Amino acid sequence: MFIKYRNSQIHVKVYGKGYPVVLLHGFLLSSTIWGGLIPELAKKNQVIVIDLPGHGKSECVAEIHTMELLAEVVNSVLEELNIEKANFIGHSMGGYTSLAFAEKYPSKIETLVLLNSSSDSDSLERRNNRDRAIKVIQTHKKVFIKMAIALLFPENQQEKHQHLIDKFSKEAFQFPTKGIIASIKGMKIRKNRTSILKNFNGKKYMICGFYDPIIPFSSSEKIALESNTTLYKVNSGHMSVNENIKEVVKTVYFIDFL
Ligand code: MLT
Repeated sequence: MFIKYRNSQIHVKVYGKGYPVVLLHGFLLSSTIWGGLIPELAKKNQVIVIDLPGHGKSECVAEIHTMELLAEVVNSVLEELNIEKANFIGHSMGGYTSLAFAEKYPSKIETLVLLNSSSDSDSLERRNNRDRAIKVIQTHKKVFIKMAIALLFPENQQEKHQHLIDKFSKEAFQFPTKGIIASIKGMKIRKNRTSILKNFNGKKYMICGFYDPIIPFSSSEKIALESNTTLYKVNSGHMSVNENIKEVVKTVYFIDFL
């Protein structure tokens, strides 16, 4: 289904019945990353899968997709579905969005799961890389997408996961350039929300890929310790839910969603 946010259409799918679980994908990806997890979660939960603005089948909503704005979009989807409180699993940029949501609407999250994500802001080096990415994407969109998606996987695993790289890239080629740039700009200016994670009242977890090339495992360990968050280690890179669905399902089972 499509839900309107301001003048833009946001693509949402709902599966199963039970306590609501919201799934938010990362940058250059879409709700299709959750294919392995949805049937498991839907046995006991109402699963709400949202394509974030400018991704999947959702339209752009602004020039800059700040994490605060994405949280507002998610909130309006939940309002439209009459959902007052939900569990959240946010993958990477979807995790940044979940944290912004937790800050803005603290009473609306029961359990927060950051999957291959972080509460940290961008380092200077990362912000500079974002500026370079914005330039490259305007002239070499396909090359940029293919490279960025390959880099989500550990280097020595890229060949093994080539079919996923091709599948996700093919999908992302269709995303509007404007939306990709809006997300890069939004991620670049996101603030550090470790204190939000630390002070979050509900249950909180980090599911981290031991070989994550984007979010180093050592920095996740540091954040988990600092924010008193339970950390689960998965034998994978940045795409745990696609690289190692078995371990992710087991973890989600421990978290008590299954
Ligand atoms: C993502 O997977 O959402 C992004 O790679 C995260 C980021 O670039 O910080």
